[in-house]
Amino acid sequence: MRVGVLTGGGDCPGLNAVIRAVVRKGEMVFGDTIVGFLDGWRGVIENRTTTLNVERCRGILPRGGTILFTSRTNPYKVDGGVPRVLETLKEERIDALVAIGGEDTLGVAYKLSGEGVQVVGVPKTIDNDLSATEVTFGFHTAVQIATEAIDRLHTTAESHDRVIVCEVMGRHAGWIATYAGIAGGAAEVLVPEEPFDIDEVCRNLKARHAKGRFASIVVVAEGAVPAEGTLTLASREVDEFGHVRLGGIANTLAEEIETRTGIETRVTILGHIQRGGTPTAFDRVLATRFGIAAIDAVHAGAFGHMVSLRADKIIPVPLEAAVSQLKVVDPDLLHGVAEVFFG
Ligand code: F6P
Repeated sequence: MRVGVLTGGGDCPGLNAVIRAVVRKGEMVFGDTIVGFLDGWRGVIENRTTTLNVERCRGILPRGGTILFTSRTNPYKVDGGVPRVLETLKEERIDALVAIGGEDTLGVAYKLSGEGVQVVGVPKTIDNDLSATEVTFGFHTAVQIATEAIDRLHTTAESHDRVIVCEVMGRHAGWIATYAGIAGGAAEVLVPEEPFDIDEVCRNLKARHAKGRFASIVVVAEGAVPAEGTLTLASREVDEFGHVRLGGIANTLAEEIETRTGIETRVTILGHIQRGGTPTAFDRVLATRFGIAAIDAVHAGAFGHMVSLRADKIIPVPLEAAVSQLKVVDPDLLHGVAEVFFG
């Protein structure tokens, strides 16, 4: 078969491990020719490809990013985008497509499967907010990076008796904030799922520091929002999928905390540090398993499906289930830990 592969949306540690696994099993076990599309859906619209073979994939397992590059292009938002996608697939004689991406990329894959494209999805996002899979690769790496950063922030905050607000990624779901906050021993964790009350946050921090010298790390997900009418946030740009460009809530939060509590407060925004660099062993293994399962799904004809992790097994689930609902943090997880450790 001629199998196309693309990576779309934000990059994520483990993408190269998926590509390598698809190529290795496709070429060596099934005798496939694997065609790499460059820059996500943009490369399919513009018919820009690269040869993918076992030789090309040597050494990429531990590398972050994606050798296929990526974009946030949405063919459904580009004039004539979808017909051009269909033309390219015909021109390149692509029998099946493996689309590796998050909710947006897989949303496009789902719509295209309705147009007759034989597509299999592979879930990726450091945000871990895709339903139908217990975890996405990249998440573990991001949590590890954020936790190491929080550990470092602790010693400097301790030395100065300060609050440090640490902003992590997490657009709609606070998975990274919750896991890194728990693992790093944060004083407060603020997530998009539950609008925060700035008064309460400040009350808690003041009470904590009143007991003596303290280091307080406030972990905030970039998508966290204040309870209505309590704090105003600056308006932001919107991308092709209609998402606002986030980042920077930590600055507003830190200013408020310092003004309201009188405790010196600093800010660290981890940003793309969480997405770059080498994947953890866990993510390399998961990504490899996903890649193998994806090429297996292609040969089983399981089109319109996405590979997913369920109870340590990799199984195909309909793309529709994967993109219809976001997976948000379970309040029991947050509150169970919060009542013991936060505040
Ligand atoms: O991939 C998801 C994500 O990491 C979000 O958490 C974040 O808001 C976004 O990507 C940032 O995207 P970009 O790199 O396009 O600014």
